[in-house]
Amino acid sequence: MKPIQSWFATVIYQDRLRRTGGAALNRELLRECRQLRDFDDAGRRWSAKNYPGGYTSYGTMDRLQEFSSTFRELEQNIDRHVAAFAKSLDWDLGGRELRMTDCWVNIMPRGTAHSLHLHPNSVISGTYYVSTPRGCAGLKFEDPRLSRFMAAPPRTADPAPSNRIHVTYPAEAGRVTLFESWLRHEVTANPVNRERISISFNYDW
Ligand code: NI
Repeated sequence: MKPIQSWFATVIYQDRLRRTGGAALNRELLRECRQLRDFDDAGRRWSAKNYPGGYTSYGTMDRLQEFSSTFRELEQNIDRHVAAFAKSLDWDLGGRELRMTDCWVNIMPRGTAHSLHLHPNSVISGTYYVSTPRGCAGLKFEDPRLSRFMAAPPRTADPAPSNRIHVTYPAEAGRVTLFESWLRHEVTANPVNRERISISFNYDW
């Protein structure tokens, strides 16, 4: 055994949603995301209070996979990625299945941000990117041990990837990012003039 080993890994998953047919599905999702914002008066009011400058259906329409065949297809596609992610974590689900419980839309114009948070009551969470204008913010994750570091010295300017305390995954349309729901993350303010559009979801078992 080598003298130095790493343990207690934090796993983040990112892949293209699908190899073929992804562009057509994405176009339809984009259309439905915008349609939803136009239609969801209560959601726009909710967003005005809770998501300044942007629109999210989180407060009003958060089970879209049950209402739209397009989102249902997205769910089926994401299921395969979630299964692969869970396998990498060696979870014993005791015969139960991971299933999508929530799925909602986020539209971030310039200046809209989503501060550090986690997703309680779920086991896997993630985001599918619908529209990601060049220069838009990625998804920034924080080392979950940060609150325990206490007197630990700071890291060098260019630490090994496994020693970083933050990592930012770029937002790229057509890709899906997955993480365990307890992992804190944020989206910094969108710096560009075009809307960043994503669909977030939770899985439970
Ligand atoms: Ni989140």
